[in-house]
Amino acid sequence: MNYRIAPLFCRPWTLNGMSPRLIESHYEHNYGAALNRLNSVTSELEALDVKTTPAQVISRLSREQTTLLNSTLLHELYFASLGGDGRTLSDTIAGALTRDFGSVDRWRHEFIALAEALTGDSGWILLTWLPRDGRLINHSASDHAESIAGGIPILALDMYEHAYHIEYGANTTAYIAAFMRNIHWGAVEARYIDATKVSPPRSLDQPEFSDVPSITPEEVQEMLSSGKRVQIIDTRPRHYSTRAQDIVEGAVWRDPERIEEWMASLSKDEPVVTFCVYGFHIGCQSAAALRKAGFDARYMAGGHYAWKAIKGPVKLFA
Ligand SMILES: [Fe+2]
Repeated sequence: MNYRIAPLFCRPWTLNGMSPRLIESHYEHNYGAALNRLNSVTSELEALDVKTTPAQVISRLSREQTTLLNSTLLHELYFASLGGDGRTLSDTIAGALTRDFGSVDRWRHEFIALAEALTGDSGWILLTWLPRDGRLINHSASDHAESIAGGIPILALDMYEHAYHIEYGANTTAYIAAFMRNIHWGAVEARYIDATKVSPPRSLDQPEFSDVPSITPEEVQEMLSSGKRVQIIDTRPRHYSTRAQDIVEGAVWRDPERIEEWMASLSKDEPVVTFCVYGFHIGCQSAAALRKAGFDARYMAGGHYAWKAIKGPVKLFA
């Protein structure tokens, strides 16, 4: 793999308070150096006989490759973040920032605070889209390799000294202000729109139960704390329940093999939540059988262990 240089996305002569000299030096000596070293480390790694090379050598080169690759990618994003007036936000991007941070102003203060906190230090400040959660988040990366898994950064502020020292000396506040007034919001919005098209990670696929509705443990907790009446039925198999030590607070255990006997004791006026150990089969089957009999039943995704993993209250299973 040979990584190719990307042209400068911004037009340096149009920037406000950031001179072409600063951008040229940054592009040539820092971005360019990262790219060249990335190619050299990649070649070195690819040429290794991985069967005979010590694991530590492979690991060291691989880590270096990751750092240099991220430095390259983030520098490209940094240059692509510049070139605007810093003020003109479309309804799309302003709406996204308001949805995820409360207001554009609040987003701006948080982003700047993260940058100010790196004064005297170095790293990146990033605005990143998270497909899993369908939201934007600000974060600070104290080195090139620190990133959010699955996140797609759409705005990058370089807080390494080489990004500002030529023009601003140690005055990071002035540099951060200059960056903010040069943000190209049109380009950020275009990247935001692209990023939102990325599908979230696939959820657990259980095609055999695709027509049985589920509920998350968090939703069950919300129902309980809001005072909503709900019938919670632990349908862990008998052989499992005999050695189980705890049970979800507020749940009753019922033998899933005798569901036809006990379902008559349930009310059809209140929702029913069933669950088993991990949420794969028995809880789903119980919910399906109850629905067939006319109950408003759902299975709790992740089962007993998901409930415990979110520190849901349990009691001794006597
Ligand atoms: Fe840089």
